[in-house]
Formats: sequence, structure tokens, C-alpha cells
Amino acid sequence: MAPESMGLLSGEVALVTGAGHGIGRAMCHELAGEGAILFLIDVDASRLTASLNALRDAGAEADGALIDLSLAGSGVMAVEHALSRFGTVQMLVHAASPPRSELDRWDVVSDQTWEAMYRVNVSEGFQMARHLAKHWIGEAIAGRMLFVTSLHAATPRNLPHYASSKAAMMMLVKELARSLAKHSIRVNALTPGAIAAGGFKPNPDLQAKIPMQRLGESAEVAAMGITLLIDRFSRYVTGSEVIVDGGLGLYNWFDPHDA
Ligand SMILES: NC(=O)c1ccc[n+]([C@@H]2O[C@H](COP(=O)([O-])OP(=O)(O)OC[C@H]3O[C@@H](n4cnc5c(N)ncnc54)[C@H](O)[C@@H]3O)[C@@H](O)[C@H]2O)c1
Repeated sequence: MAPESMGLLSGEVALVTGAGHGIGRAMCHELAGEGAILFLIDVDASRLTASLNALRDAGAEADGALIDLSLAGSGVMAVEHALSRFGTVQMLVHAASPPRSELDRWDVVSDQTWEAMYRVNVSEGFQMARHLAKHWIGEAIAGRMLFVTSLHAATPRNLPHYASSKAAMMMLVKELARSLAKHSIRVNALTPGAIAAGGFKPNPDLQAKIPMQRLGESAEVAAMGITLLIDRFSRYVTGSEVIVDGGLGLYNWFDPHDA
């Protein structure tokens, strides 16, 4: 890991949700590698502790809070925890999302599962963003936000609560980006394809449908995501979606056998 003084995010604080596992955890390591200070949010205590320990062992400054973002008021609470711990926050990465069960199809998905998906992905994501944006405007901070969305924001997945919440998240990115750009605040979406992380259990035949012929890794998504938080690479980028999917989004029903 680069010493803090050498990183492109030296001394800046990032609030990362879903930081205990998968893409959120990988984002923490990318951020720490650029000298950022981390404040981790997760609902799973053992994942949160393991992630914090790994970051500290690697020399990063990191702290965190056990917060369930499916509860009303939790987003503002997460921001307040990070602000009171480190005094300021310059970046938000919203990677948390409830587990997806393939059984939760349109005819059986419960009100509770539907509500939790929307609350974590959309409602508390919005509350975190709004609370932070007000802080940033008040303090003249050129903050950056990154929302982890999904290819299923634009294509169905047999899980209406998941796909429709990701579509809502995508519009949230655009709304916030447009409103906040004049305050030098950038808001972008990072869209993974099929990534071998905890939240996704692939069918065995999926790999063949991916033009690059393999699932992606969380670290590969995070390596792209970090560029959207660093002004050197993306200072004129807001309201954009960057897709990291090995070409999966190019797959469609026309699939000639000799291709
Ligand atoms: N893995 C994929 O293939 C894939 C594809 C497209 C989009 N995504 C998106 O990427 C993000 C991360 O996915 P992943 O596969 O790395 O997931 P993951 O399950 O590996 O990690 C998600 C983390 O979020 C935490 N979390 C879940 N519910 C929470 C809650 N209520 N409050 C706080 N934390 C909570 C979990 O404990 C976990 O540590 C999600 O937004 C997901 O929708 C993943």
C-alpha cells in the first residue's frame, strides 16, 4: 500500500457502505491504497471487524459502525458517525445491498423484502447523499459520490424489487449529479456485471454468455470505481454510469452458434 503522503486521496475521508464484503470491501482497499481514511458501514458484525482489521493491518486508518441501512434514519446516522469520528468526509461509496434470493419472484416477494431492498438501495442511499451534500455545500467541499448499481437497472432479472430499486438508484444518480454539479460535487454510478462476490450466485452456464468468458472479481470493479472518485481521472465526469462487466451487457437473444 502506498504511504498516505503519496496517494491521490491522501488525508481524504471516504464513507463506504457494504464495506464488510465483496465490492464494498474491495473499494475500501483501493481507497486506502491512495491514502484515503476509511469509515466502514455494514450490518454484519464479523464482516465489518474482519474488513477493518485487514485495512489496519495494511497500514490504513480506518474505523466503522455496525448499522442496518434497511432501517429508517440509518443513512443520516451513518453520515453522522463518520463526521463525528473524522471531522469531515469527502467521498461516499454506496455498495451495500440486501442479499438477493432467486426465490423472491414477483408472485411471492414479501412486503418486508421489498421494503428492505428499497430502503437500503434507494431511500437511505438518498438520505446519506442529501445529508452529505448539505455538509459539503456548507463547507465548500468538492465531494464525490459513487453508487454501485447493476446491469439489472436496465434489464429484468426475475427479481422485481432488486431490478426496480437499481433503476431508481440510477435515476437518483442523475438527479443528484444535475443538482449538485454547480457546487463542485460529482455523483456517478458504477455498474458491475456478474461478479464473483457474496451477493451473486451464478448459473453454471453464465460464463459462456460473457464475451470475456469469465466472471469478474470485486477488485476489478473497484479498480474502475476508484477512478470516478479521483479528480485527476474524472474531474469533468458526473451523472455517468461506468459498466464493468467483461462485455456481459452486450449479450442478447441473437447468439449464432458459430460466433
Ligand atoms: N456481485 C455481483 O455480481 C453484482 C452485480 C451487480 C451489482 N452488484 C451490486 O454491488 C454491490 C455489492 O454487491 P456484492 O455482490 O459485493 O455483495 P456482498 O453480499 O458481497 O456484499 C454486500 C455487503 O453489504 C452488506 N449489507 C447487506 N445489507 C445491508 C444493510 N441492510 N445495511 C448495511 N449493510 C448491508 C452485507 O453485509 C455485505 O457485507 C451491491 O449493491 C450489489 O447490488 C453486485
